[in-house]
Amino acid sequence: MNVLFAVSEAVPLAKSGGLADVAGSLPKALGRLGADVRIMLPKYEEIDPELIRQFETVAVFNVSFGWRNQYCGVLKGSIDGIVYYLIDNEFYFKRRGLYGYGDDPERFVFFSVAVMEAVRRLEWAPDIVHCHDWQTALIPYFLHARYASDPAWAGARTVFTIHNLKYQGIVPMPLLKELIGGEGTELEFYGAGSCMKGGLVFADKITTVSETYAREIQTEWYGERLDPLLRHRSADLHGIVNGIDTDLYDPMNDDALHTPYRSSLSRKRKNKLDLQKELGLPQSETTPMIGIVSRLVEQKGFDLILHVLDELLQEDIQLVVLGAGEYVYEEAFNRAAFGHPDKVKVWLGYNDRLARLIYAAADMYLMPSKFEPCGLSQLLAFRYGAVPIVRETGGLADTVKPFNEFTGEGNGFSFRNYNAHDMLYTIRRALGFYRKDGGKTWEGIVLSGTQADFSWERSASAYLAVYESLLSHRKEKMQ
Ligand code: ADP
Ligand code: GLC
Repeated sequence: MNVLFAVSEAVPLAKSGGLADVAGSLPKALGRLGADVRIMLPKYEEIDPELIRQFETVAVFNVSFGWRNQYCGVLKGSIDGIVYYLIDNEFYFKRRGLYGYGDDPERFVFFSVAVMEAVRRLEWAPDIVHCHDWQTALIPYFLHARYASDPAWAGARTVFTIHNLKYQGIVPMPLLKELIGGEGTELEFYGAGSCMKGGLVFADKITTVSETYAREIQTEWYGERLDPLLRHRSADLHGIVNGIDTDLYDPMNDDALHTPYRSSLSRKRKNKLDLQKELGLPQSETTPMIGIVSRLVEQKGFDLILHVLDELLQEDIQLVVLGAGEYVYEEAFNRAAFGHPDKVKVWLGYNDRLARLIYAAADMYLMPSKFEPCGLSQLLAFRYGAVPIVRETGGLADTVKPFNEFTGEGNGFSFRNYNAHDMLYTIRRALGFYRKDGGKTWEGIVLSGTQADFSWERSASAYLAVYESLLSHRKEKMQ
């Protein structure tokens, strides 16, 4: 089975968040199950030239959309056994970072049309095109509206995965019509135009990244005004929880760490001492360290943290924050670090090495998200023996089992309501168990996290089943 991932980011080439982790690791797991999965993404300026030194140009053509006519090159190469195709256009992609430009919708309409055109010129035909988030959501629309009778696309089926329903690629309708060169009536969204609807309306199957989020987005509270459409498509909507690449994230084999470890808490604590030294925090094995590695955006629950930060910092803890995002949060954490230099360290920006050091050093990992489609950070925290403290939503509810002091079961701590003092209470409860009976209880909680299986194997089979259901359906139709 040939599967093309059309995606806006993928590890190791380009990453802004969890989408890149998924796009980099799920194809490998699908490959182990026998699928030929290839990845197509933009050739961003920030891609490390070393990684693509061996890539070769396999096609050059022009992409016409709206009134535009743009150069498009396709480079092909392989990394760790996975074939990548890079869509090259310097006007759209030779820029700093991945997103955040006023013309992002235009850039990704270009990318989506480029994918349609590139497939016509490849020596390899996808059975399934798997699109991710709004940036590639128009591909199912284009397939339906323009390429259905193109021999290169004949019989191809589409899967659209929602990694985050909040970002939808909303543009004024006249602009969307002009970009897609059609009426796009189905893409109308409360008077504007929605790229995301291309996937939600036209993809053969829709998936999202946890079972709970699949249910939540069919409600008004989480549905981002798309819940009626999602309820309408509920028979085709599946929740499949993300995994992590357990080779890439392995505390026993992580170049960033001085002291590798698996289940030894005393070795893990050496990593805490190292990070305290590096960041200029007082060195102490026993002071609980709370870690955060995140985009600093409302989604992640920072309003709760800031609301009780002063109270939290009255506890004997250390707080280490790595992230970048909205100014209000950056500023508030900077102020806390300035006011509590012995307790709080903040590093603003993206830093893969520091992220690994924090997962390895932290005793607890705080993620009180307002909503969380899946969340990979809490899975990485498990892998590195940091106990997650989360709000029970989306993938956090599906992966973190709250500690039950009566049965001894559980791998983390959680609270239900989006309420700052519920969160503070939960952190204090975790701190209580951290200090209890010389750390015995705590060790049990850590171990149940590190021993859980968050690899891709099970979820990759679930994706394969979704693909197969479409292909068997196709065969039935052809008979
Ligand atoms: P999201 O995709 O919503 O940002 P996830 O938890 O799914 O959240 O994935 C976030 C990924 O990005 C994790 O691998 C996390 O470690 C990483 N990450 C987030 N912010 C940073 C940062 N500032 N520096 C390094 N890695 C980061
Ligand atoms: C999104 C979500 C996150 C999820 C990631 C990968 O960025 O916010 O919850 O883990 O995509 O699917």
